[in-house]
Amino acid sequence: MIYPIVAYGDPVLRKEAKDFPEGSEDLTELVESMFETMYKANGVGLAAPQIGKSHRIFVIDSTQMGDENFEGVKRAFINPEILDEYGNDWIFEEGCLSIPDIRADVERPEKLTIRYFDEQWNQHEEEFDDVTARVIQHEYDHLDGVLFTDYLKGLKKQMLRSKLVNISKGIVKVDYRMRFPNKK
Ligand code: NI
Repeated sequence: MIYPIVAYGDPVLRKEAKDFPEGSEDLTELVESMFETMYKANGVGLAAPQIGKSHRIFVIDSTQMGDENFEGVKRAFINPEILDEYGNDWIFEEGCLSIPDIRADVERPEKLTIRYFDEQWNQHEEEFDDVTARVIQHEYDHLDGVLFTDYLKGLKKQMLRSKLVNISKGIVKVDYRMRFPNKK
């Protein structure tokens, strides 16, 4: 099932999401729908709050990113916990399906260790780096109500303010289905 993606300004994007309780609803189906919704919008990551569900779940697919030697990862992360972030900070231009038409440089550490469950409730602890780590960091932030635009400062942030208000009202060109909190 393809869900409409919740746009900037919706309170669900600012909430701290709750752990997904084992057996509470069909996890496999939810994860499938999240991948479907992400691919339909040409995204590389999607967090459950972005489809209006305040669960600690995100999906990523970084296999199409980077150069030809880059492998990438397609995976669902259930109730994840970033245990450590390390390596050099590096700048990468981020975007977000909930904030269409805006991209900006964000600085984050290049590596991380994360503990998470997969769809079969097997627990994993793994290290990721490069753009895969970056997508994970971005999506993980969504679970804590943090958006990449929160990291921007000064003039860049000021310039974005009216654009963000417009997005919340649905005044933006986008080629996938969205739900705008302040649409008249
Ligand atoms: Ni995002």
